[in-house]
Amino acid sequence: MSKYLILLGAPGAGKGTQAEILFKEFGLAHISSGDLFRENISKQTPLGTLAKSYMDKGELVPDDVTIQMVMERITRPDCAKGVVFDGFPRTVTQAQALKAAFGKKRKKIDGVLLVAVRDELLVERLTARWICPLCGSVYNVLSNPPKTAGKCDKDEAALGQRDDDKPETVKRRLNVYHTQTAPLIDFYRAAKLLHQVDGEQKIENVQQAIVKIVKSLRPGVRRDRPQKPKRNRDNARSRTNRGRSTRSAKAKSSTGRNNRRA
Ligand code: AP5
Ligand code: MG
Repeated sequence: MSKYLILLGAPGAGKGTQAEILFKEFGLAHISSGDLFRENISKQTPLGTLAKSYMDKGELVPDDVTIQMVMERITRPDCAKGVVFDGFPRTVTQAQALKAAFGKKRKKIDGVLLVAVRDELLVERLTARWICPLCGSVYNVLSNPPKTAGKCDKDEAALGQRDDDKPETVKRRLNVYHTQTAPLIDFYRAAKLLHQVDGEQKIENVQQAIVKIVKSLRPGVRRDRPQKPKRNRDNARSRTNRGRSTRSAKAKSSTGRNNRRA
């Protein structure tokens, strides 16, 4: 099942947590712009150095470099099976770039899942988040703790916290979300793609709500162009029959006219 989905929501809403579940459930490629930046930071690339200077302040990385990075990522073979975008797009400019790129490939976003959580809960969630530096598994000491405190369930590596999860940076990220990313809610609502999910429920319940929506979506159909009906034998037959009935109706009516004339 190839689906192209966007997870939209504030920092800490649970986008990464749910994207991982969608990756496992539906085999969709998980594209997290934040993870791509962090990968570049750990490899000390020029892009990583640039991104870090914005991320540390809780600001967005400029659109041009972000768009270029994600556009390169979507050309990789794993994206043919569908994608769940996590944290991208984050501005209307990014959303328009994604739409244009998909338009060229004759692909379409199938749905945008807005994971809604109140700000006061988000600060609490982010400061309690712990991540495995080896496999990227995400835990939360309050809602989703590891089996052994401070250690990853999968590889037992020591868990760490993200630099931008400090309370003052989290507040700045939330501000940035409300001013620069929240306009995407209206953008995708106008495109009839928006589905809101209550992100304040337990992780499993958010998951169930999202999976139900995803299963109800029609895959990859471009809604901006009418679809041509498939030409199959039944269609061909009914066209032939329609042709016949039209011809016989014409014949009848001309017979009628001829009769009247006569
Ligand atoms: P990014 O890495 O995308 O961070 P974010 O959007 O701020 O979101 P988070 O990863 O913090 O939260 P999440 O929604 O993924 O929540 P999670 O599942 O981890 O971006 C980082 C930075 O990179 C940005 O600030 C920006 O500088 C830059 N950047 C990235 N993309 C960009 C773009 N497109 N353009 C420009 N700049 C960009 O969950 C959070 C915690 O809550 C976890 O501990 C989890 O276990 C727990 N949790 C999850 N769900 C629940 C639940 N239902 N109940 C209780 N706890 C839960
Ligand atoms: Mg995330």
